[in-house]
Amino acid sequence: MEVISGRRAWQDMMASWSRSGSRVGLCPTMGAIHAGHLSLVRHSQAQCDRTVVSIFVNPTQFTLARDLETYPRPLKEDLALLQTAGVDAVFVPEVHEIYPAYPEVSDVVLSVGRLGESFEGRDRPGHFSAVATVVSILLNLTQADSVFFGEKDFQQLCVVKAVIRDLGMATQVVAVPTIRESDGLAMSSRNGRLSGEGRREALVIARALGDAQACARSGGHALSVRSAMHERLASCTAFSLSYAELVDINTFSPVPPETTKGTYRAVIAGVIEGVRLLDNAAVSFPSS
Ligand code: PAJ
Repeated sequence: MEVISGRRAWQDMMASWSRSGSRVGLCPTMGAIHAGHLSLVRHSQAQCDRTVVSIFVNPTQFTLARDLETYPRPLKEDLALLQTAGVDAVFVPEVHEIYPAYPEVSDVVLSVGRLGESFEGRDRPGHFSAVATVVSILLNLTQADSVFFGEKDFQQLCVVKAVIRDLGMATQVVAVPTIRESDGLAMSSRNGRLSGEGRREALVIARALGDAQACARSGGHALSVRSAMHERLASCTAFSLSYAELVDINTFSPVPPETTKGTYRAVIAGVIEGVRLLDNAAVSFPSS
């Protein structure tokens, strides 16, 4: 497995693979590799000739300095996991390989419209602009045929699809289902910061998503689906709610309250023990 930190060396290797006719799949990550990331790798390996991973803790997408400082960076363990998974190459750039002027703001950053300003974007101003920018840089450096993103970060997936569509990039976006612990908690690099008690409290999120699905299945409308989530989440005093909403899967607009047809996404975010957690699930009304 090649481990490369220079942008030039990375571009050269990707170009040589592309010239030899290999289809390249990119899985962008911030490291602290877990089974969710490895699922992206497996999907890429099933569809592409070469699978490459980037590990870059992107400083510009963090709203809180403390969150950036405490973000886990177990590089040695990450590389061992990726090697075992059969990854062909890993890009581990220093910050100046991505942002030459850092800590000065780059001359060019992407701006994301309405899609980037609601939900996660409302709670973390500038977050999706920073994600859109770094993903574009990584895609330009890699020229991947396909790029793999988890449904775990559903709004991020929508933003990336919009970037690729609106900028006319040739890369295909592949959405990968969320990998969960056996008790239902969505895997996340941040879960490790929870105490045992906090970890148990966090299950309220997956339960609220289950309630939303059950409510829609049993003839509820969008308003009652939303209420079912809010009721469950309010039952956990350790959980501080950011949002719990039913949204359109492409536009991320809240679904009208009387809706009883169609398939949507229930999205939830909140904080337990200072750790921001998010999750989502498909919700289908029976008449859809
Ligand atoms: P990170 O949080 O490391 O996640 C990297 C990728 O793994 C994302 O596409 C994310 O949705 C996916 N992922 C995380 N947990 C998952 C799970 N439990 N199941 C399936 N997929 C999961 O998301 C980022 O990094 C960054 O914003 C990045 C896109 C790399 C840009 O900096």
